[in-house]
Amino acid sequence: MNQDLRLEILSNGPEDTSNLGVKLAEALDGGEVIELIGDLGTGKTQFVRGVARGLGSKDVVQSPSFTISRIYQATGDVYLHHFDLYRLGENTGIIKTELQEVLNDPLAILVSEWADSVHDILPKDRVTINFIYMDGEKRRLLIKSNGPKSRKIVEYLS
Ligand SMILES: Nc1ncnc2c1ncn2[C@@H]1O[C@H](COP(=O)(O)OP(=O)(O)OP(=O)(O)O)[C@@H](O)[C@H]1O
Ligand SMILES: [Mg+2]
Repeated sequence: MNQDLRLEILSNGPEDTSNLGVKLAEALDGGEVIELIGDLGTGKTQFVRGVARGLGSKDVVQSPSFTISRIYQATGDVYLHHFDLYRLGENTGIIKTELQEVLNDPLAILVSEWADSVHDILPKDRVTINFIYMDGEKRRLLIKSNGPKSRKIVEYLS
């Protein structure tokens, strides 16, 4: 029987947040989905920077707001697909097709910000991380699993 996990981590600055991303990357080998939830400027993209670094990518991670999605080349066979659907609006059709292709690819790791409008096609078994602004550079990160695959990742972080 699967018991889902919840983990709460306090980040004291951007470095803490990216280092957590580096650690999470160690638990990934393709086919995983990570959803990042939180207000503007709480550190979601900063976290992705760490994930990309942890996967051995030399690519520069930027907020993909204007392009919707970016792909970072990692070491080995896997790719990191970074989506930011903040500006997507109602036009979810094309993006859902693109997302579906990513989800069908066992070598793709999907990390998405602002994914509410595509929840219906995301697998239930995904890691969700809630970024909560505290004050100054402090953020509370609530990490949850929702199935066996995501549980393995949260377990690794705890
Ligand atoms: N503990 C922290 N963790 C992450 N970022 C922090 C932290 N403290 C300060 N920051 C700063 O907050 C900003 C976070 O920006 P980032 O682009 O990662 O936010 P975001 O959640 O992706 O926002 P958006 O929803 O607009 O994409 C950066 O400028 C970063 O340096
Ligand atoms: Mg962002």
